[in-house]
Amino acid sequence: MLIWQNKNQLKHLLMRVRIFDDYDSLSQATASEVINLVKEKPHAVICLPSGSTPLGTCQWIVKNAQQQETDFSKCVFIGLDEWVGIGKENPGSCSYFFYHHFFDPLKIPEQQIFLFDAFAKNWSEECKKMDKTIAAKGGIDLMIVGIGMNGHIGFNEPGTSFRLLSHVTDLDETTKSVGQKYFPQKTHLSKGITLGLGHLMKANKAILIANGKNKAQIIHKALKEPVSEDMPASIMRKHSNGFFYVDKEAALLI
Ligand code: GLP
Repeated sequence: MLIWQNKNQLKHLLMRVRIFDDYDSLSQATASEVINLVKEKPHAVICLPSGSTPLGTCQWIVKNAQQQETDFSKCVFIGLDEWVGIGKENPGSCSYFFYHHFFDPLKIPEQQIFLFDAFAKNWSEECKKMDKTIAAKGGIDLMIVGIGMNGHIGFNEPGTSFRLLSHVTDLDETTKSVGQKYFPQKTHLSKGITLGLGHLMKANKAILIANGKNKAQIIHKALKEPVSEDMPASIMRKHSNGFFYVDKEAALLI
């Protein structure tokens, strides 16, 4: 159980932490954030994560978008991260997730999609290209992120500067082993390419989503440990419009 030394800190934080009964209601609420934004601002720039957590959100968006005929044809989608050297055809890649669960069912035009190239010849150019794209589109309106078991956001591993924009990074051992869950067979994972926490801080709104008991400990740390580059997800507490959306299980220790 958390021991809060400062009641104001607790009050302030709880306003930014929404606890949902279950994964489905968490996913539905996150999906509504995306759908409402697109309705208000058809040219919105939206950054999405891949992984187990956002699957329900994508499914709700697809379902609701079809029912409510939300027009996604003008908004821009930015992929949060990608495994270096893992192609779009590999079911464990982030690109595969985005196309399979989101872009294809919603028929998002290709020119509205911006993902990292896992096989870029020049990483520095690839990162600059993404940073320039985001700037040229007017910045990110809504950035949804997950949280890794070591507190990472995207592939911003513990120790990464809060100021970085797009970059390539060596993956932490935890990320390499937990990441195996996305792949049908044992896969060599070594580096990742990711948006930086500088992007997160500049986004108009940021939502970190987490569900399940296995995320309870890391959510506790992200909320309770000092805001520090050693705990990347703690940066969410510095965002003026940043929220934690967690289900009851992930909120077990707060
Ligand atoms: C992965 C990705 C992140 C993702 C996080 C949590 O390694 N790099 O972008 O948000 O870890 O993933 P999951 O939702 O599968 O737990």
